[in-house]
Amino acid sequence: MTNQYAIVLAAGQGTRMKSKLYKVLHPVCGKPMVEHVVDQIAQLDMKKIVTIVGHGAEDVQEHLQDKSEFVKQEEQLGTAHAVLQAKELLADLDGVTIVVCGDTPLIESATMGALIKYHSEKRAKATILTTQLDDPTGYGRILRDDLGIVERIVEHKDATEKEQRVQEINTGTYCFNNRALFEALSKVSNDNAQGEYYLPDVIKILKDSDEVVAAYRMENFEESLGVNDRVALAEASRLMRNRINERLMREGVTLVDPNSTYIDVDVEIGQDTVIEANVTLRGNTKIGEDCLISSGCDFDNAVIGNRTIIRSSAIEDSKVGDDVQIGPFAHLRPESEIHNHVKIGNYVETKKAIVGENTKLPHFIYMGDAEIGKNVNVGCGSISVNYDGFNKSKTVIGDNVFVGCNSNLIAPINVADNAYIAAGSTLTDDVPEGALAVGRARQVNKEGYAKKIVEKFNK
Ligand code: UD1
Ligand code: CA
Repeated sequence: MTNQYAIVLAAGQGTRMKSKLYKVLHPVCGKPMVEHVVDQIAQLDMKKIVTIVGHGAEDVQEHLQDKSEFVKQEEQLGTAHAVLQAKELLADLDGVTIVVCGDTPLIESATMGALIKYHSEKRAKATILTTQLDDPTGYGRILRDDLGIVERIVEHKDATEKEQRVQEINTGTYCFNNRALFEALSKVSNDNAQGEYYLPDVIKILKDSDEVVAAYRMENFEESLGVNDRVALAEASRLMRNRINERLMREGVTLVDPNSTYIDVDVEIGQDTVIEANVTLRGNTKIGEDCLISSGCDFDNAVIGNRTIIRSSAIEDSKVGDDVQIGPFAHLRPESEIHNHVKIGNYVETKKAIVGENTKLPHFIYMGDAEIGKNVNVGCGSISVNYDGFNKSKTVIGDNVFVGCNSNLIAPINVADNAYIAAGSTLTDDVPEGALAVGRARQVNKEGYAKKIVEKFNK
């Protein structure tokens, strides 16, 4: 098989985004645009993937890490100049090279694979991936001769009125004979409306040397969307969201209202789980089977077991087991680990807390830096006092403990198995196994005093 290489163009400033964030790093459904592109390319059998980076290169490299090699384009002089930066790495190699823009996040590996196949069938030196758009504004147009053979690409800004009426566009993805590409690149000039070295000019240069140039027109025009501004970014997110939601529904997940369900691309959800409207699932969230995730949930890197019901709650970087009930309005902050059959009710917040099997935190509770055993009942209003303004300390609660309502557990503190804490206690000392701990002032009743107070204030 011919060796295959890929070049991803990601050095452009992205001025039309009007952003401090580097254009290709703007996320679409939770993943930077350029990473979508590189991940799709990686599904093909590539000998090398080279990403051309510009200013802000460190950020792009940090995101892509070992998914790609990197070459820096110091000055952004155009797409042809960008590709030329890969010369040292690629120019002497035999094979085919696909070039893809880092700002076309919807492009799919199957399409690029089909492009490469078509390119070799046509024995072409260059093949452009094209599509037909109702509104081709801004894209390079494909100009064909009377026989329908591709002649060249004209950029929107350089096109005559007649050329602008052409609806077939350059998607910015190409397949080249690698050696022919680098030879032609050296002949590209910047004599055009933008004063840039245009990669599409390579097409005319190859044509002029009587090489075969082909165009592969794809049906699914949505894949071609190039994101140059925030309007296109929103459109790309909408299209990607549709794609993700449709895949999940086909895999057996019920989305009650896909139009208001926001699921990042790497999220996994098991069969027969129901996701209600207005739910956001981010990052590497994984949800098991037969769960119910109700309206208003927002999870980021949450790992949820099977048959768990979560209502209107937020979860970050945490794990939740099977048959758990959470919410409404609970907040699981990072490193919470909720074991099977736990109940976490409304207005409960956990942080770095392990909650053992069958334990209940039914309402208005804060547990931070805590380890809670099995079969524990934590009463309403109880909190772990984990922070003294300087240090965080740990609260450990054993199995079968009963924590009465409105208890303050001043950490560090250890409540052993089977202990019972009286409601309203403020505990500063460890509680031994099986003990009753009462940590509150004694009540004093002053007979007849109520009347005296009323008289005093009515004077
Ligand atoms: C480009 C194509 C256009 C095509 C469109 C598809 C050119 C001249 N035009 O236009 O025919 O229809 O894509 O979306 O190629 N980049 C660099 N270095 C540079 C300039 C750009 O790496 O010096 C990168 C950008 O980061 C971007 C990609 O190349 O990822 C395309 O550049 P952009 O300026 O967005 O080109 P378009 O005007 O969209
Ligand atoms: Ca673009």
